[in-house]
Amino acid sequence: MKLFLDTASIDEIREINRWGVLGGVTTNPTLVGKEGQEPEKVWRQILDEVDGDVSLETTEEDAGPMYEQGVTLAQLGTNAVVKVPMTPAGLEAGKRLTSEGIKINVTLVFSPAQAILAAEIGAYIVSPFLGRIDDAAADGMHALRQITEIYAVQGYDTNVLAASLRHPMHIVEAALAGADIATMPFDVFAKLVKHPLTDLGMDRFRADWKTLQDELLSELENEKEA
Ligand code: E4P
Repeated sequence: MKLFLDTASIDEIREINRWGVLGGVTTNPTLVGKEGQEPEKVWRQILDEVDGDVSLETTEEDAGPMYEQGVTLAQLGTNAVVKVPMTPAGLEAGKRLTSEGIKINVTLVFSPAQAILAAEIGAYIVSPFLGRIDDAAADGMHALRQITEIYAVQGYDTNVLAASLRHPMHIVEAALAGADIATMPFDVFAKLVKHPLTDLGMDRFRADWKTLQDELLSELENEKEA
């Protein structure tokens, strides 16, 4: 399962990239809005920085303008993936884009039925929003498991991207459910690496190493005095 960062912050992207585990990036209008800069500048910087897929979201609501915007976004970089929403207009624009060989990510997916539609238009990625499903008092992980099972049974090759993930166990369970990609905010990425026993272990190793260095130093001093 590839690990994607859900952000438009270049600093966050650079940090996770240094760890060697960044598989790609997802952005959305909210995340790009937080940067307070020209969207195209933000997208181009991310596309240059990331050695993997970068999802850029359309903001037009009608199929024609959404398709046009999708073509423009796809031209920003060879690793650009165009996000279209799971709406009738999104399906129409998405189908036109996939017919022309443009990779799309169908976003705002909340049910297995919607995921079937995304696969049928030849989407490269489908993004079920697990956390937001949970927010609506339903079971996001159950929906993800149904989607991966349907895709396996039907032989769909659309990549399942588990989105709207809120904590490390979401990533573990998404991996078990067979998701192809998990996208998460920076703070969740940071939590993946943390474990209290790792910290305790580091403290103990550090202390034991210092004890040894102190012993060796005092042996050396004793030898000098003798
Ligand atoms: C994915 O592409 C979305 O940008 C994202 O996962 C949404 O997450 P949120 O529900 O935390 O905003």
